[in-house]
Amino acid sequence: MKTFYVTTPIYYVNDVPHIGHAYTTVCADVLARFHRLQGEAVFFLTGTDEHGQKIAQKAAEQGMEPQAYADMIVGKFKELFEKLTISNDDFIRTTEERHIQACQAFWKRVQEKGDIYKAKYEGLYCTGCESFKDEKDLVDGKCPDHNKAPEWLVEEDYFFAWSKYQKQLEELFHEHKDFVEPKARYNEMLAFLERGIQDIPISRSLISWGIPVPDDPDHVIYVWFDALINYLTGIGWENPEKKELYNSFWPANVHLMAKDILSKHALLWPAMLLSASISLPKKCFSHGFFTKDGMKISKSIGNVIDPHQLIDTYGVDAFRYFFLREWTFGEDGDYREERFAIRYNNDLANDLGNLVSRVVAMLGKYTDGKVPVSTTLDQQFEKRTTKVWAAWESSLERLAFKEALESIWELITFANVYVDEQKPWVLAKAEDKIPIYNALASLVEIIRHIGLLLTPFIPESSEKILTAIGSDALPLVLAPTDKAWGTSLQGKLTTLPGVLFPKHQP
Ligand code: MSP
Repeated sequence: MKTFYVTTPIYYVNDVPHIGHAYTTVCADVLARFHRLQGEAVFFLTGTDEHGQKIAQKAAEQGMEPQAYADMIVGKFKELFEKLTISNDDFIRTTEERHIQACQAFWKRVQEKGDIYKAKYEGLYCTGCESFKDEKDLVDGKCPDHNKAPEWLVEEDYFFAWSKYQKQLEELFHEHKDFVEPKARYNEMLAFLERGIQDIPISRSLISWGIPVPDDPDHVIYVWFDALINYLTGIGWENPEKKELYNSFWPANVHLMAKDILSKHALLWPAMLLSASISLPKKCFSHGFFTKDGMKISKSIGNVIDPHQLIDTYGVDAFRYFFLREWTFGEDGDYREERFAIRYNNDLANDLGNLVSRVVAMLGKYTDGKVPVSTTLDQQFEKRTTKVWAAWESSLERLAFKEALESIWELITFANVYVDEQKPWVLAKAEDKIPIYNALASLVEIIRHIGLLLTPFIPESSEKILTAIGSDALPLVLAPTDKAWGTSLQGKLTTLPGVLFPKHQP
């Protein structure tokens, strides 16, 4: 059976989840749902990154132990992901015993390879990024991502011989031009690589909130070295009870993340895996960063977008839809709430919601709610739906979420035009019932296709749409007959779905 393993970054628990966390996780969810529908065995992993200086500091500020603080924040992530109908197969926390064991086992492998040595680190460290920095990474002496001057660190550490893998990384990039996507990010990573990789510390001795280094409890494992290993822990690497799971799903098909942490995934992680003699993931796909009204989103500016507020105002499916439809996946996006309201009212309330409610209302009026039996379904739809299914499949294979939605919306628009042209309310007056039966049965069939095509994106609404037209529960796997233009719903009883997307008054 074909398998598909997708991951999100594991999120820091220094604060409650924000829009960026929600976005990456929804994207991973759409991919997981798409691949499940295609009949593949899917494993979808998300979770939290709970060690490191940033979390230790935040917990101390709150007068709490780091573990207690992490336990509190992790609940907020789980709550948000549940609200967003995220279908992850597991949720990993780096403070779990399973991860501590995997992490220490990984360390030992790298050590046995001769890739870990002790040395003094004298340099910069940005707690916001949890990264060792160079002067050249700074803008006006500050980390551009966190707008803060990094601290000067002098520390005895264990180092990873990252530079030893320079050549192998170059080969990886030359042989697998799709290892990093989109292309612009691939080029950035290649340029980074060509500047030359330097060894980095992979332990910390000045902080104690972390996984102890095997055989040297004065050091904890550097939080990034610890965190990346979650992708292995999550599918049971080195766990005898999970051998089958690991063998089926590693290497991962795609690691998703934003550009801020791409180099860790595209350059450090493969080197760690090469050192540990583990095969490499197939792809790192990096999306862009959101700004709000043209400005960087930050707590200090006070322009944070609260995912809960948007979901509570517009509904979970509107949230999922908007962020995938508005921007091309991979690019930066500037968020404006008025755009949300416009898309919601136009695309969801008008185009989609109205189509379903007016077709079902007409069935109630003209055919006692039953899908009529039609002798000749409108054949022009057959070609269109076949084309949309092909576009849907190809777009989602390429993570082109916006493109997939655009082709579904072409079908929705076409169906709305068809209603206006056919005028079933006029056809209803004719003696000959064949034309109205054909028109209404064709419309139900097209709505069935739309409902199925939308399943990965807006699962709750898809279910409501399909139930309204008398279809059975959502299929777990799409059969060829599901994608074919047909008559499966004829004779079924339809029910008005209630307002799918109530108009939003600003
Ligand atoms: N803990 C590390 C990741 C370790 S993965 C082995 C981390 N955590 S984070 O909480 O800072 O999350 C970063 C990720 O959140 C980004 O890569 C991205 O997926 C998402 N986003 C955070 N802010 C974002 C925006 N402003 N815009 C879009 N996504 C962003 O880094």
